Amino acid sequence: MGAADEKLQPPVGNKSTPPLLSLARRTRYALHQGSRVALYTLHSEAMRRMNKRIQKDLPDTPKITPDGPVPSQRRMLADIFKLFADDLQAVEDGLYPMPSDGTMTARELLDTSRAFFKDVPEVARRRATGAHQEVNEEPAGFAEALPRYYRQNFHFQTDGWLSEDSAKLYDFQVDVLFSGATAAMRRKVLLPFAEILKQKDQRKVAYLDIACGTGGLLRPALKAFPRLKGVGLDLSEPYLNVARERAKTRRASYVTAMAENLPFADGSFDVISCVFLFHELPPKVRRKVLAEVSRVLKPGGSFLFVDSLQTGDVPDYDGLLSLFPQLFHEPYYNSYLKEDLTSLCSDEGLEERWMTPAFVSRAAEFVKTR
Ligand SMILES: C[S@@+](CC[C@H](N)C(=O)[O-])C[C@H]1O[C@@H](n2cnc3c(N)ncnc32)[C@H](O)[C@@H]1O
Repeated sequence: MGAADEKLQPPVGNKSTPPLLSLARRTRYALHQGSRVALYTLHSEAMRRMNKRIQKDLPDTPKITPDGPVPSQRRMLADIFKLFADDLQAVEDGLYPMPSDGTMTARELLDTSRAFFKDVPEVARRRATGAHQEVNEEPAGFAEALPRYYRQNFHFQTDGWLSEDSAKLYDFQVDVLFSGATAAMRRKVLLPFAEILKQKDQRKVAYLDIACGTGGLLRPALKAFPRLKGVGLDLSEPYLNVARERAKTRRASYVTAMAENLPFADGSFDVISCVFLFHELPPKVRRKVLAEVSRVLKPGGSFLFVDSLQTGDVPDYDGLLSLFPQLFHEPYYNSYLKEDLTSLCSDEGLEERWMTPAFVSRAAEFVKTR
């Protein structure tokens, strides 16, 4: 591998594990992740059947057509398997602990599953009638203070980002979409994070997770790095409330604010992460957010990024990506697919170190060079 190729690869660990311990870990990992894939795939299949029935009573929607190749189920399973294999390798290399993604009691699982299926007809109705502005029609409340682009029923989800019910259902819905692989995609950036922390005292590292939602990355990051403190920022008070409830650590603090107007002084953070935000932002706002990330990062600091694949990242997936905004209300996704993130970041002094596709996501690290 040449020097140019090396630059494009995320760091890897190199701790060796005794064979028996390794076998026990692998079995535990396979059982946990395998049961998650099965659970969410079953929900996805049941949802598909439900939608088929519901659609008979709903207005016809335009035919959904892919613009490019769509990977087979087999190919997608192979990519999920590769993602999990890399994830397990990182655990074995001692980069982060064995994940306990979305562990729920039987009661919680039953309640969430019930809430999920209760919401399916609502999502189908919005999709069929093009109703993606319901959150905007509700009586005045805190929603009015939020930017217009944000006040929409993204994904046709009930209440958009604006209720605790939506926040409690969000992770489950996303996992149904991504066959239980969401958390492993987020963890891609824990590898470079571990590498950064190797050279530092964790207690002195200032970390910010932008658009932290219910804490999907902040929580595992603080679990992986036990002396690290982190700030989770989001515009949704209800999502932050759920993040607070689930985090159970004093090392996490939360700020309700806009990513495009960060309430921090210049050069405040060593590491900033951002997961699944950029595809939900209008192009102008994306640029503002990057300018803000650059402003509040320290020189030499890292911006760790995870979001959807873009067109051309993995050409076999291009058609699948083009289906997403036809199925879900994702008003800014098509512009995201074509956005040149490397040069947008570079314009703000954030140089791309590496980028790696992982199933339907891309993970990357940008370093502030000026
Ligand atoms: C798709 S979710 C991703 C959440 C989380 N990062 C994850 O990995 O699940 C998008 C999140 O971005 C937040 N968000 C959207 N626009 C924002 C903005 N301009 N400023 C701050 N947060 C924003 C939403 O409230 C929501 O929690």
